[in-house]
Amino acid sequence: MTRKEFLQTLGIGAATIAISNLPGASLVQAAEAATPEKPLPKNTERLAFGLPDQEAKVLRPVTAIVIGAGSRGSVYASYSGQYPKALKIVGVADINAVRREQMAQEYNIAPEHRFSDWSEVFRLPKFADAVIIATPDNLHYKPCMQALAAGYDVLLEKPIAQTAKECTDILHQARKYGRLVGVCHVLRYAPYFRALKRVIDEGRVGDIVSIQHLEPVRFHHMAHSYVRGNWHSSKQTTPIIIAKACHDLDIVRWLLGKPCKRVSAFGSLSFFTRKNEPQGAADRCFDCAAEKQCPFSALKIYIREHRYLYVFDALPKDRAAKDAKIAEYLRTTDYGRCVFRCQNDQCDHYVCNLEFEGADGAAASTASLQVEALTSYGGRKTRIMGTKGDIVGDMQTFTLTDFLTGKKYVWDEDISKLPGYEGHAGGDWGIVKDFVLAVAHQDEKYLSSTIDVSVESHVMGFRAEQARLKSKIVNM
Ligand SMILES: NC(=O)c1ccc[n+]([C@@H]2O[C@H](COP(=O)([O-])OP(=O)(O)OC[C@H]3O[C@@H](n4cnc5c(N)ncnc54)[C@H](O)[C@@H]3O)[C@@H](O)[C@H]2O)c1
Repeated sequence: MTRKEFLQTLGIGAATIAISNLPGASLVQAAEAATPEKPLPKNTERLAFGLPDQEAKVLRPVTAIVIGAGSRGSVYASYSGQYPKALKIVGVADINAVRREQMAQEYNIAPEHRFSDWSEVFRLPKFADAVIIATPDNLHYKPCMQALAAGYDVLLEKPIAQTAKECTDILHQARKYGRLVGVCHVLRYAPYFRALKRVIDEGRVGDIVSIQHLEPVRFHHMAHSYVRGNWHSSKQTTPIIIAKACHDLDIVRWLLGKPCKRVSAFGSLSFFTRKNEPQGAADRCFDCAAEKQCPFSALKIYIREHRYLYVFDALPKDRAAKDAKIAEYLRTTDYGRCVFRCQNDQCDHYVCNLEFEGADGAAASTASLQVEALTSYGGRKTRIMGTKGDIVGDMQTFTLTDFLTGKKYVWDEDISKLPGYEGHAGGDWGIVKDFVLAVAHQDEKYLSSTIDVSVESHVMGFRAEQARLKSKIVNM
């Protein structure tokens, strides 16, 4: 996959970067400014925060076992390929032998440390500093509980677990065994969001009164992940407000810096249902008379546009052979199914309203979060309304306007020179870096998304789903 394609799958284009203002920032070194200065309009200043060094500087590499060597596990492991002095992958568990062996060979993992099911890892005495849990959503809880009991620090993919109770169990288990859990709320580690947090914490917009945040999923990403793919069932995984938008709940909570008090929500699965299928539809796109007119066609998405190919193992390099192999997958897996005839139940539009505690007796702040499937664009769109100014951002750049002076401050750095910028605008490797530092120093302050704060934003999501299903305002 090319960089451009990879960015497309993430729903972001070029991205941008700044130095962290979070714990660990003192260890972040500014690299040379990578952005050639673009002219700005009058009365506008550039927020040139600089680029961070993605390498964790530690005395010896932190060692880790990857549980789940799929898409996410591979991204986190790839940090060790770039920075072998920071992280060493010493074990792998995956029930998929192709993925397991690929990772084992890439990181030279000893044969006795290659496992199939996750549980096999814990039959051996502890042999690494940490585990990286990147298994499907329904396989986070048990491996995490066991890893903590076995004395490992954990880098845990989101969602933490499938219920609020399981999330808090993990929090208690981490405390009981005195271990670190870093939750992969990777956006917090993306320079764009760090810059946003920095200007808010510097008081440049005054007190935040309200936030409007949009997560545009993109129509083909919705079809791939939440209609045909791994997250099509809210019961087998988690409702989309958590499965997709726990990042966004977390970001809103983080930017506001206050606890959430109550939640309301609306939304439904309105479009990807049988009643909307075109005339001539069939169970699989290969047999559909309307295939050429369907924007969600599997042939269009996977064969003609070559999107999301990481879900298909062992694809040949040659284009014709590759397309033939993809076609084989489309005839046998859910990825070839008609989007109007899947067993999906995830909402394709979701509106969530959140009320936050006011600081020191001040009035409550509010936020609205929308998760929208039917968009042509991805990324995140955020508007922040403060008492001294406002911010408008789209995950590539943001503009802060000062009400008093009318002056604008633009953050628009080009992060394309940042190693690993392709993964959530630098957030994927950013979290691994801070996790490595946290483990090496045995200090959770290096991490922004610790288990405590991450549980809170997950609970906001579980409450939102209750509110939606019961048509009620739900208190936190
Ligand atoms: N942080 C993010 O932005 C982000 C983005 C996408 C996905 N995720 C989350 O990451 C997790 C992994 O997603 P993914 O896209 O990498 O999925 P994936 O299917 O590519 O990878 C999961 C891997 O786990 C393996 N596995 C399944 N059962 C197993 C078992 N019993 N023991 C060991 N391995 C097993 C599978 O074979 C697969 O290779 C999910 O929980 C997902 O929600 C997070």
